[in-house]
Amino acid sequence: MCGIVGYIGAQDASEVLVEGLKTLEYRGYDSAGVAILAEGGLDRRRAEGKLRNLSKRLKEAPLAGTLGIGHTRWATHGKPNETNAHPHRAGGVAVVHNGIIENYAALRQELQADGAVFTSETDTEVVAHLVSHFRAQGLDLQASVAASIERLEGAYAIAVVDEAYPDEFIAARESSPLILALGDDENLVASDLPAVLAHTRKVVFLQDGDLVRVTRGEAQIFAEGALVERPVKRVDWSPAAAQKGGYKHFMLKEIFEQPRAVTDTLTGRLGRGGEVHLEHFDLEALKGIQHISLVACGTSWHAALVGRDLIESIAGIPVSVEYAHEYRYRRHIFGPGDAVIGISQSGETADTLAALGEVKARGVRVGAITNVMESAVARLSGDSLGVIYTHAGPEIGVASTKAFTTQMVSLHLLAVGIGRTLGTLTVEEATAELEALRHLPHWMEQALEGASQVAELAPWASEFDNYLFLGRGNLFPVALEGALKLKEISYIHAEGYAAGEMKHGPIALITEHFPTVALVGSDDLKAKVVSNIEELKARGGPVLIVASEGDEDLARIADQLVLVPEVPERLQPVIYSLPMQLLAYHVADFLGTDVDQPRNLAKSVTVE
Ligand code: AGP
Repeated sequence: MCGIVGYIGAQDASEVLVEGLKTLEYRGYDSAGVAILAEGGLDRRRAEGKLRNLSKRLKEAPLAGTLGIGHTRWATHGKPNETNAHPHRAGGVAVVHNGIIENYAALRQELQADGAVFTSETDTEVVAHLVSHFRAQGLDLQASVAASIERLEGAYAIAVVDEAYPDEFIAARESSPLILALGDDENLVASDLPAVLAHTRKVVFLQDGDLVRVTRGEAQIFAEGALVERPVKRVDWSPAAAQKGGYKHFMLKEIFEQPRAVTDTLTGRLGRGGEVHLEHFDLEALKGIQHISLVACGTSWHAALVGRDLIESIAGIPVSVEYAHEYRYRRHIFGPGDAVIGISQSGETADTLAALGEVKARGVRVGAITNVMESAVARLSGDSLGVIYTHAGPEIGVASTKAFTTQMVSLHLLAVGIGRTLGTLTVEEATAELEALRHLPHWMEQALEGASQVAELAPWASEFDNYLFLGRGNLFPVALEGALKLKEISYIHAEGYAAGEMKHGPIALITEHFPTVALVGSDDLKAKVVSNIEELKARGGPVLIVASEGDEDLARIADQLVLVPEVPERLQPVIYSLPMQLLAYHVADFLGTDVDQPRNLAKSVTVE
């Protein structure tokens, strides 16, 4: 996720910006840059890779000035290289931006027709050209930014400088965080608190629709064109706590970030009339498809199981789900109707990469679902079917959370896209699927709110050494993922099973010391799972039930009952994953393990 810092004061702006950006490094980035307003005008330095590369550039060619904007970029539109690094410039205007401009392609065309020359592949550059366009029409800087954001669709936090305005800069936000920090004869904006704590503890959390004019002595906030007052808060967090947004661990922060992450996965992709826009993925190339293999490891493999159900039921195409490490060594019989799609958060998992590479070499169409732009699997698939980026933002906790939910949502989009491309899904059916997805972030927020009771279960749940996780249908993969989460970070042994399989063996384990987490969906399989739970209770096994609101009566057979909002059946896996993640987190935290970096595990497994 990108980082923004804007500064105006008496200090050397490039130093302040680079120091501020360093505190945002935890967000992940692949290039960085600053634009400084000095006596000689506006100038910028940008560099691919880490901030030390930018510092080196600044050392070789310093930029003196006390007003500037800086950025660390996590690539979403265009490769992670210097040309695409922010700030982006148009005439005397420079802009840094976080978020995604949904209508950038249309705006770019319009501006090009008007004579604008673009130099990057980014969505951000349209903002610089828009502001420059309004400036050329005679509007002042503030009015130009206000007029520009009127034209933007999507999510943004921006900071804008103009060489004709050496004593101010303008910032604005919509659906992307931005704070204003008030110092002594210096003021800053930043996408996150750590970047400003070395200067001041007085901050304003800007709201959606806010535009702020920042000078050395003051900052004026405008909403819908009118000057507004926003409460100034005093922040006492340490820089380390601030990086985690006040949460105790990155994992917990990432769990609560999921409604936002899923919104980003959906942004720009839900078309009118049931169309799905997958900007880097060639749906047309799937014409004539007869079978898809989804290849992945770990949590991504669990997402693939959910994806199988989605693609088969929505698009009517048979799907196999494969462990990449097994798949790469099997002998496959491919036909012309085959396609293979790799799913990998990091895009660097050695097994997934090798499996995709082997099938691609045999002439099979390959695609990828990944969170990391220009990662190895993305590059490998780029000239074949292409890539669906999950847009979850960097995931720092080793245990996947937001990567999982955004993978499932990406697979849902893919399923609808295939269904429409092949004509197996009507416009009405596709529209209904997309409408449900549009509501998903809201249901996720409700689920996270409701599941806060899970924290209170931790002392009880931490008593046991073994767990069974049960689910059926599309909640079976969630049971597998719930068990994986628990074992990864709490080191408690847990196994996920399809509930119907229990009587074929695992039930032998059940005693009053062997609990089960049972996922009860509000679907056709509900009565069957309830019968499975009755069988457990008859053997004295403790049961924690996760069910949908309306199923309060299940309390009669539950030792613990957690309720989530009732949602359309295909969205259940995303919603039920949230209490699974919280259960694992709170048990691990209660036991005092290293939640973000559990023993023996690496974030990305780049060896076989
Ligand atoms: C999940 O919590 C794990 N960190 C792990 O299972 C992970 O999903 C697996 O290693 C695959 O990683 P990838 O998605 O980056 O390919």
